[in-house]
Amino acid sequence: MQNFNYSIPTKVYFGKGQIRNLAEIARMGKNVLMVYGGGSIKRNGVYDKASAVLQESGLRVFELSGVDPNPRIETVALGAKLCREKNIDVVLAIGGGSTIDCAKIIAAAARYDGDPWDLVIDGEKIKDALPVAAVLTLAATGSEMDGFAVISDMEKNDKLDTGSEWIKPTLSILDPKFTYSVSRKQTAAGTADIMSHVFEVYFTREKDAYLQARMCEAVLKTCIKYGPVALENPDNYEARANLMWASSLAINGLLSYGAEVEWSVHPMEHELSAFYDITHGDGLAILTPVWMEYVLSDKTVGKFEEFGVNIWGIDPDEGTWHIAKKAIRNTREFFQKLGLPQTLGEVGIGEENLEKMAYKLDGKLTDTYVPLSGADVLEIYRNAL
Ligand code: NZQ
Ligand code: ZN
Repeated sequence: MQNFNYSIPTKVYFGKGQIRNLAEIARMGKNVLMVYGGGSIKRNGVYDKASAVLQESGLRVFELSGVDPNPRIETVALGAKLCREKNIDVVLAIGGGSTIDCAKIIAAAARYDGDPWDLVIDGEKIKDALPVAAVLTLAATGSEMDGFAVISDMEKNDKLDTGSEWIKPTLSILDPKFTYSVSRKQTAAGTADIMSHVFEVYFTREKDAYLQARMCEAVLKTCIKYGPVALENPDNYEARANLMWASSLAINGLLSYGAEVEWSVHPMEHELSAFYDITHGDGLAILTPVWMEYVLSDKTVGKFEEFGVNIWGIDPDEGTWHIAKKAIRNTREFFQKLGLPQTLGEVGIGEENLEKMAYKLDGKLTDTYVPLSGADVLEIYRNAL
């Protein structure tokens, strides 16, 4: 197992009625910038609930709304400007991963003199940030408990992830009921995203991280059990609660500490989103089984066998290669069952930019589970058409 420094500093309030603990942000200062997206929080009542607590706590609230799915650098710049003008003490994100990611980089950019895009290109440049609090409304990215943010510059077709200890949320409210209103599409995409975060660390080169692998399997099984339940019955508390906690645990470091590996499918998906503005989880659902098929070899077949037996319950006597292939098939069929797209064509992506997207990653996926060149990525994209 590799060395690691454990740091998961976010205080999580999980469960029904936990929004009352938003009052705690009064300890961080008086002026709050509330950041949210296109209005789902107004329709489902979360905005009113949060506003009531903020008001009772005597906080001064300023608002920045309209954060896009795949949040834009322009919104970050606007938020950072507001922070300076209004003397903001804490940035509060209410929404899904896009809103939380945007709030994180606003918080960092508010304490940075240069171009906010610098912080997206290089997380090392984040040397300070306002505290970030989050009210999560969509189980997917894990942004509520991690130090990452993904920001897009659509003009340049760039969607980049950045990371820093500084932007880990100080506190997060996780009330599963707030996710009852999430659409079928986003519930499915969120489930695929959580699973992908696990795959990115489950398929590691580290051989002796036994404990991490078993924890990964627990999170995967949770998604496989509860994703379909939440789709069928959006108000099922048990399903929403399990998915919500899975979202946080998948990427907060617990599964990857000691078993780190560079990620494969996420960078490939980010190119798709950067060029076509597609839903992150849709892109992952398309690419994941194709990537699995591509990296399956004599070297990796053992890991896929383990995946097949432990996750899909395939009989260990069926033979290594047979189990491995069946496991990949099951993964594809599971995403299909959730109603997720299976091909790039279904989300409006053709041949036109494949080469450009693939070669943007050339030389960047060398420390992944199976190293991938630009040519490999191009083949994966083509196989996904
Ligand atoms: O904008 P609003 O009106 O709030 O609607 C959103 C949006 O349209 C809606 N929604 C959210 N909560 C809802 C709801 N609708 C009804 N009821 C609710 N309770 O869902 C839509 C999608 O929201 P978004 O925040 O974009 O989704 P998600 O949480 O999947 O975030 C995706 C972004 O996070 C990045 C992705 O690349 C993408 O940009 N990621 C961030 C990561 C991180 N910080 O660690 C890691 C991930 O791998 C990922 O890359
Ligand atoms: Zn993701």
